[in-house]
Amino acid sequence: MILITGGAGYIGSNCALELIKNNENIIIFDNLSTGHIETIETLKKINPNLIFIKGDLKNLKEIEDVFKIHKIECVLHFASLSVVQESAKIPEDYYQNNVIGSTNLLNAMVKYNVLKIIFSSSAAIFGQPKYLPIDENHPKNPINPYGKNKLEIENILDDFDKKYNLKSIKLRYFNVIGANRENLLGEWHDKETHLVPNIIKSAINQKPFEIYGNDYNTKDGTCIRDYIDINDLIEAHKLAYLYLNKENKSDEFNLGIKQGISVKEIFKTVEKILNQKIDYKISQKRQNEPSILISDSSKTNKLLNWKAKTPLSDSIKSAYQWELKLQKKSI
Ligand SMILES: NC(=O)c1ccc[n+]([C@@H]2O[C@H](COP(=O)([O-])OP(=O)(O)OC[C@H]3O[C@@H](n4cnc5c(N)ncnc54)[C@H](O)[C@@H]3O)[C@@H](O)[C@H]2O)c1
Repeated sequence: MILITGGAGYIGSNCALELIKNNENIIIFDNLSTGHIETIETLKKINPNLIFIKGDLKNLKEIEDVFKIHKIECVLHFASLSVVQESAKIPEDYYQNNVIGSTNLLNAMVKYNVLKIIFSSSAAIFGQPKYLPIDENHPKNPINPYGKNKLEIENILDDFDKKYNLKSIKLRYFNVIGANRENLLGEWHDKETHLVPNIIKSAINQKPFEIYGNDYNTKDGTCIRDYIDINDLIEAHKLAYLYLNKENKSDEFNLGIKQGISVKEIFKTVEKILNQKIDYKISQKRQNEPSILISDSSKTNKLLNWKAKTPLSDSIKSAYQWELKLQKKSI
């Protein structure tokens, strides 16, 4: 059985769906702090045998009980608080939830001799880039508590490998966008902070979209990021799982598409795809944000045999269809 922490959230649920389609037996463990029960219901319609446990990683006993009762072979660890700005406002909650929560998970795994994990890390571990694109060897100097949490967990994973032989694959996502191709599951955060869904929400609700800062040191003054489609990202998880089973060694991979796109460029692309002018205003730059993040995914391409396939326009179209569904509450 595969245990998915955070499987009621955006990325974890999309991964759960793919595993269900591949006839894997899965258990989802989630405290529903940012995830949604409706997401679990959608997954249960596809596989009624899916096991969902409402539990919190901050509670050691709750996660230990999962391993005590079920025979788990591997863990996919998505559960996290993950809003950069919020992490600077309430760092104590972030350390507690992300670092302590992950340590509880790892302790439970070791106790029950489950020694394989795939961990959702982030480009935030790198901080301000020293060079671009960012490969796996790039120095790691996170500039916000969220990025520091992720790096700390990566370090703990390495120590658990040395001491307990626990093997981990760390996948450092850049910016994930889009919805699943059948429009069953997509990005759903009650306080949405991500670019693409927020531009789409502005378009649908006819409210001005806020661009945070146009004085970054970039070609048009807005932040540049590397956007990876959710379906391509999930494919990378499947390949990482195979790699982990075959090689039985710890490793790390950057997951982006080696293409930097500015906020303004994404905004214009959304306008074009929706065939709609969207109002916008320029607000103050957000603190703790690097101006450019672009992934060098050569290692991922080579060792995992992974390639991004989805064009940006398809990701935006799927995000739009999903947002319509979300707004009509027809989940
Ligand atoms: N979305 C992105 O672009 C992006 C980029 C880089 C990294 N990541 C990482 O990917 C992972 C998934 O991100 P997402 O966008 O799906 O987030 P999400 O908020 O949609 O999902 C996270 C899930 O984890 C659950 N959770 C949080 N704390 C928990 C706890 N203590 N115990 C049990 N469950 C808990 C939440 O309820 C939620 O369902 C996170 O680790 C995030 O840091 C995401």
